[in-house]
Amino acid sequence: MSELKLKKCLKCNNLVEDTLNKDLICCGEVMQEVLPNQNEEIKEKHLPRYEIKEDKIIVSVNHVMETEHYIEWLLVKGKNTTVKKVFSPNEEPILEVPYEKGLVLYSYCNKHGLWMTKVS
Ligand SMILES: [Fe+2]
Repeated sequence: MSELKLKKCLKCNNLVEDTLNKDLICCGEVMQEVLPNQNEEIKEKHLPRYEIKEDKIIVSVNHVMETEHYIEWLLVKGKNTTVKKVFSPNEEPILEVPYEKGLVLYSYCNKHGLWMTKVS
């Protein structure tokens, strides 16, 4: 299973990965699953892009990195591994990890939420 199951607390905005596949409680309420955004109008600026170079995959996003609006993190999920890199505004949202088949790439925008690309 290489898809990320992300849950968010609607009260405090805490985000966690649900690895147990059961209800998680935060601030006294059940956390809600966060599904990848599919908004056609803004997907070009949010979907993770990738380039495979020899035994590595380089993941990036063509998104602004401004104080008020930026990519908070990129995450690469494989069969047995998860690599996440957190960014600050003005940093370049790029992540390089070893390539393997079946990777799923995620980006998280502070305004537009979760986005996913499956590596074909
Ligand atoms: Fe955005």
